[in-house]
Amino acid sequence: MAETLFEELKRYVGFTAGDEAALRSIYPHAHPELTRIADVFYRRILDHEGARKALEGGESTVGRLKITLVAWMDSLLQGPWDEAYYERRARIGRVHVRIALPQQYMFGAMNVLRQQLNDVLDQHFLESPSELRATRLALGKILDLELAIMLHTYREDLLAQQSRVERLSTFGQLIGSIGHELRNPLSVIETSLYILKGRTDKDERAQKHVARIGEQLGIANDIITKLLDMIRDKPLQRSPVDVAALAHGVVDALPRPPGVSLHFAGMEGLPDVPGDPVQLRQVLVNLVENAIHAASPSGRVQISGATLDGAVHLVVEDSGKGVDDAVRARLFEPLITTKAKGIGLGLALVKRIVERHGGTLGYQRSSLGGAAFWVKLPFGG
Ligand code: HEM
Repeated sequence: MAETLFEELKRYVGFTAGDEAALRSIYPHAHPELTRIADVFYRRILDHEGARKALEGGESTVGRLKITLVAWMDSLLQGPWDEAYYERRARIGRVHVRIALPQQYMFGAMNVLRQQLNDVLDQHFLESPSELRATRLALGKILDLELAIMLHTYREDLLAQQSRVERLSTFGQLIGSIGHELRNPLSVIETSLYILKGRTDKDERAQKHVARIGEQLGIANDIITKLLDMIRDKPLQRSPVDVAALAHGVVDALPRPPGVSLHFAGMEGLPDVPGDPVQLRQVLVNLVENAIHAASPSGRVQISGATLDGAVHLVVEDSGKGVDDAVRARLFEPLITTKAKGIGLGLALVKRIVERHGGTLGYQRSSLGGAAFWVKLPFGG
């Protein structure tokens, strides 16, 4: 059987059964210290203005993270250092990648653990230099392995990004030409359909099918429009936009099942945003459509507004299932979709439009249980 990455890494650092035994011999001495070490670890992060940012605004509290770090150190010293161990570590690495934690902080963070655990070794094995040396070596190797796994998850992410970029540049060129080429046959179908419509007056089944073809044509045209919008940045036609009126207009125009209720909060008195009303409408259409889809067949969608730091802050949230962890980091990238029938352009387009308005957007869990997408659109200048 081919060597796994973890086996290869262990071979490279020379991690042996002797190291495993040495780590296990550290455990009883380190165990009472682990909570204290976790405190030192997070204190160091909180003391650093850059690293601290990763902990702000996240869903995890430092209290919870300390518990997970103690569990991490528990298995660091007890093993078994097998493939399941590797997978667990890689999963943790991907959590850091998902929250876009800059990888340079990993070295400093690992060093805190190295120093703290080495202090434990100094205290307990000072009388026995050979044990001190063996445990120090084993600790060094496993912490290097941990760093290697962590950095590997960043590399995985980089490679995935690269292949997406390549896919997209070819994709972009293809879309441009295919999109344009498809418009012609679709418009011929549309004209013929219009003529046919006038001749099916008395045939109900034919009428039904003509209507169905019309609907599907609409969907096909819509996909092409979104694709073309993605690749050519339409210039913004700015004017003062009343976002609340826009949101009400969008809600009135979008179909929704009777079981999905729609609510507005804090939308009165929001300042106008200097923006392109057509493109901003598209932002709201995509977000509200997604929310209705997520809350269907029965649930709740809420659109709320507030003024915050010179920007109109809009939140569109739903009582659906929320976004899967695996998709979260890539949510606003093209071709990423959570819908069975989606092609993954809606949110990418939303991001593009919001950013071209100088705004920002993001995702968080909604208190309604599902997804909450927020958009900040600056209104000053
Ligand atoms: C030696 C380095 C590190 C280790 C061993 C480590 C360990 C862990 C573990 C075990 C988790 C829990 C993962 C899960 O929920 O399954 C976690 C999550 C997290 N870590 Fe680290 N971590 C390290 C470095 C850092 C650094 C340097 C920061 C910040 C500057 C950081 C910030 C976070 C945050 C914010 C989460 C929670 C993410 C979320 O749940 O949304 N970690 N880490």
